[in-house]
Amino acid sequence: MKERAIDSIVDAVETIEGGGFPVRRPFPAPELQQVDPFLLLDEMGPVDWEPGKAIGAPDHPHRGFETVTYMLEGKMQHKDSAGASGVIGPGDVQWMTAGVGVVHSEMPEKEFRRTGGHSHGFQLWVNLLARDKMIAPRYQELPKDKIPEATSEDGLVGVRVIAGEALGKTAAIETRTPIMYLHYTIKPGGSTTPEIPEDHQAMAYVFSGQVVTGRDKRKIAAGKLAVFGPGSSIRLSVPADQDAAAQILLLTGVPLREPMVRYGPFVMNTKEEIHKAIADYQAGRMGKIAS
Ligand code: FE2
Repeated sequence: MKERAIDSIVDAVETIEGGGFPVRRPFPAPELQQVDPFLLLDEMGPVDWEPGKAIGAPDHPHRGFETVTYMLEGKMQHKDSAGASGVIGPGDVQWMTAGVGVVHSEMPEKEFRRTGGHSHGFQLWVNLLARDKMIAPRYQELPKDKIPEATSEDGLVGVRVIAGEALGKTAAIETRTPIMYLHYTIKPGGSTTPEIPEDHQAMAYVFSGQVVTGRDKRKIAAGKLAVFGPGSSIRLSVPADQDAAAQILLLTGVPLREPMVRYGPFVMNTKEEIHKAIADYQAGRMGKIAS
C-alpha cells in the first residue's frame, strides 16, 4: 500500500450563505476552484440560534450536479419543485440530484426555528458527468439509523459510513459519481489507515481537534482542508498527548476530468449551457415549490 502525501492545505474561509447563515468554506476559493468531482464544501455553523432567529436558504435553483447535506445538530426542512420534501435532523443525510434543474428551499424546521438551538452540518456539491447533467431530479433521504457505524478494535477510532466503505462497513446509498464520504471521530492515541481506490481524488476536512496525516505526517488543525496526492491509502492519527478527539470528513471520488463552468447555483460544461440554465430558470422551467 502506498500512503498518500499531502499536495496542499487550504484554510476554510468564513462567509455567509443562503438567507444569511454563517459557513466555513474550504472551497471553492481563488486558490482551489474544485477538488474534482467535488465542487463545494460548506461547514454550516456551528451556530447557536435564539428562538425565532434561525436562518436558512429560501427558494433557489440548481442544475448540473448533486447537493449532499449532512446534519450533525439542528433540524432542516427541505422542499423542492419536483414535489419532494423532508425534514433531516442530527445524523441524517439528504442527497438531492438537481440534474436538469430544481428550485428548492432549505430552511430551519418550524419547531426548531421556534425554540432556537444549536445547528451544525455540512453541504457538499458533487459534480455530474456531462451525459448526466440533464437527468431527472431525485431526492433521497438517508436517516441516521441507515448510516453504518464502526469502531476500531482499540475503541479509539469511530467512523460513520455515508458513502463508500470503512472498517468493514459499506454505505447504504448508491452514488451516481463513485465517491467515499466518511465521518471519522478519532480519540487521542488513535490511528487508522483506510484504503482509498487509486483512481479517486482525496481530501480531508478537519472540523474539530487536530490530526496528523499524509506520508509526511503533517499536523492539520480544525478549519483546514488537506488535499492528497496519488496513492492507495491515507493515514489519519491523533497524537496521544492531545486532550480532545478530532473529527474529520474524508471525501474521495473519481474525477470527471471534464470542462467545468459555474455560475452561482448552476454548474455546467460550457458558457452556453450556463446561459441556457439562467434562461430556463427565469422562464420558470425549473418549476416552483408548491405551497
Ligand atoms: Fe440549495
